[in-house]
Amino acid sequence: MEKIIITGASGLLGSKLVETTKRFYEVTPTHSGAPLFTNSIRMDVTDFNQVSEVFNRIQPEFVVHTAAMTNVDRCETDKKNAWKINVQGTENVAKMCAKYAAKLVYVSTDYVFDGEKGLYSEDDATAPINYYGLTKLEGENKVKQYCKDYVIARTSVLYGWHERKPNFATWVINSLRNNMPITVVDDHFNSPTLADNLAEIILETLQKNLTGTYHTAGDERISRYDFAKTIANTFLLNEELITPTKMSQLKAWVAKRPRDSSLSVNKAKETLKTRLMNIKESLTRLKEQDSVNFR
Ligand SMILES: NC(=O)c1ccc[n+]([C@@H]2O[C@H](COP(=O)([O-])OP(=O)(O)OC[C@H]3O[C@@H](n4cnc5c(N)ncnc54)[C@H](OP(=O)(O)O)[C@@H]3O)[C@@H](O)[C@H]2O)c1
Repeated sequence: MEKIIITGASGLLGSKLVETTKRFYEVTPTHSGAPLFTNSIRMDVTDFNQVSEVFNRIQPEFVVHTAAMTNVDRCETDKKNAWKINVQGTENVAKMCAKYAAKLVYVSTDYVFDGEKGLYSEDDATAPINYYGLTKLEGENKVKQYCKDYVIARTSVLYGWHERKPNFATWVINSLRNNMPITVVDDHFNSPTLADNLAEIILETLQKNLTGTYHTAGDERISRYDFAKTIANTFLLNEELITPTKMSQLKAWVAKRPRDSSLSVNKAKETLKTRLMNIKESLTRLKEQDSVNFR
């Protein structure tokens, strides 16, 4: 069986990738903090020696690099660590992929765009407006610099059940289930993506041996407010608890957000058999998986 290393396997997408790829590959999940899988190996991507040792030991044919500092506001206030993890960490992984001729899938973001246009295609010019977006774009550049065999998979607003960390959709569900009113912006648009669906999409990019940049996100542009209302309707919760607001009024946001960073997924749809799900399909799937263990 061919071998695959998944970085950030303790995170949302990483954990779905471990579950999705394990039927096809010998999977090595890696983490830096607390492991989620019993066979997970510690690999702090900022530590070149550690990365090098793990690659030496596993000698993988494939690597999916999901590990990142993903908190957009923390990246703005802790730029040093954001650069260390998202840029230097990616450089370390990319160098080792080149050394072992492993195919690298690097998970990037819609925040590489400025959000003035929306429904971005792969050929559109990048222009990040916050530090998180800048570091993820620099990560893309490191991948291109060191690797020939790579996929850059840009995604948007990941959500799904995860036993440790809440995300936008699970925050909405849990708040409404507890009758807590929430305020959600109605002037911020993206392409919400079910992490389980993205894991299947990435698996197919590996199996099809694709290379290059792909927008791999949910097949629908929506405002956060409308997304929250659709979540409430799907889960039969009280949508009146959701109040719309504007991005300019959100005091908790330190970093600027692109107004409309939704992604056109036409290239991926033309290339892949796996369906890129729209919101209704993915929320239906999320509801089917609903379980007290995964809130
Ligand atoms: N979340 C979104 O809405 C979104 C949108 C667009 C793109 N993306 C991209 O998609 C990818 C996956 O996102 P996600 O939401 O699944 O992430 P997540 O749940 O926040 O998980 C990130 C993982 O990165 C790991 N990590 C952090 N620092 C590390 C280090 N120094 N060394 C090794 N691992 C480290 C963490 O592991 P430990 O806990 O073990 O430290 C964590 O498991 C990221 O690359 C992100 O930039 C996410």
